[in-house]
Amino acid sequence: MLCCVQKFTVKKMAHHHLWILLFCLQTCLEASGSNTDIFTVNGILGESATFPLNIQPSQKVTSISWHSKTSVAFVIPGNLGAEPTVTITHQNYHERISVSGQNYNLELRNLRIEDSGIYNADINVETSKTTTTRSYNLQVYRRLGKPKITQSFMTSVNSTCNVTLTCSVDKEEKNVTYSWSPRGEEGNVLQIFRTPDNQEETYTCTAWNPVSNNSDSISAQQLCADITMSPHTRRTGLMSGLAVLSLLIIILPSVVLFLLCKRREGSFLKKFSKNPGAPHQGGASEHNLLPNAIL
Ligand SMILES: *[C@@H]1O[C@H](CO)[C@@H](O)[C@H](O)[C@H]1NC(C)=O
Ligand SMILES: *[C@@H]1O[C@H](CO)[C@@H](O)[C@H](O)[C@H]1NC(C)=O
Ligand SMILES: *[C@@H]1O[C@H](CO)[C@@H](O)[C@H](O)[C@H]1NC(C)=O
Ligand SMILES: *[C@@H]1O[C@H](CO)[C@@H](O)[C@H](O)[C@H]1NC(C)=O
Repeated sequence: MLCCVQKFTVKKMAHHHLWILLFCLQTCLEASGSNTDIFTVNGILGESATFPLNIQPSQKVTSISWHSKTSVAFVIPGNLGAEPTVTITHQNYHERISVSGQNYNLELRNLRIEDSGIYNADINVETSKTTTTRSYNLQVYRRLGKPKITQSFMTSVNSTCNVTLTCSVDKEEKNVTYSWSPRGEEGNVLQIFRTPDNQEETYTCTAWNPVSNNSDSISAQQLCADITMSPHTRRTGLMSGLAVLSLLIIILPSVVLFLLCKRREGSFLKKFSKNPGAPHQGGASEHNLLPNAIL
């Protein structure tokens, strides 16, 4: 529409350029024909959404055909104010659709994520031979759960703790935005400097999607807790290091000893197998010698 106004002004300035106006009218008509207001309908998973046709009672509708990726439903108005006849034309929509007898708005219940998409209603009226199409973009979202705040990249200089807070929602949700209060910052990352002066402050992250919002908070006192704990973690690290070392000290000599014994035993076996006379006797001798080899 803005296009029309601008081009019209141009036309006024140059009277002889009538074709500009014509061109403008054409493009405007095209524009209004192609993007014909795709009406956005946001729905919540498991709940219901309504496609508003808002047809006036004076308009004598003969049929409405709904289709999306598949066909959806076929609606024939009832005579003399009777309920419309609704035929569900795809099993996905079985028992989930109802149509208002007043304005023929279609309600889809028990929404699924995969219901998201473009829905078209082809409307036929008695007085016109042409079919009018209304388009809707249904988007089904989950109600957001509590977001999670994690802290990272902590550095501490002179009792001022520099920490990065990251806010995130559990699953891979679409169209989620984040904001922080009291700072009013947008985005899921917040840089904080905790000084002894702002210990009392609380930071709240709110996650938003088109159908819901949810928030969680963290107090400045909770921040940088890991830094104050770090000497402790260093100590436990040292302890486990010592444990591994002492284990090595015990195990390594035993392994070496065992290998040494094995090797000595092997050389005895070789000696006896070289003796062609009595292989069985050799076997027996081996058993006798084995304890000596170990000792
Ligand atoms: C705070 O930490 C971030 C991330 O490690 C770093 O980029 C930034 O320069 C630090 N700011 C100050 C003032 O130390
Ligand atoms: C930390 O404190 C020392 C003196 O105690 C000062 O010289 C230094 O500039 C301080 N550093 C910061 C980052 O405030
Ligand atoms: C949702 O996100 C998509 C891209 O991921 C974008 O095209 C669309 O405009 C967004 N919708 C809203 C309501 O923010
Ligand atoms: C945020 O969510 C609450 C319910 O959790 C709702 O009452 C409120 O209207 C929502 N705020 C906005 C701006 O959507």
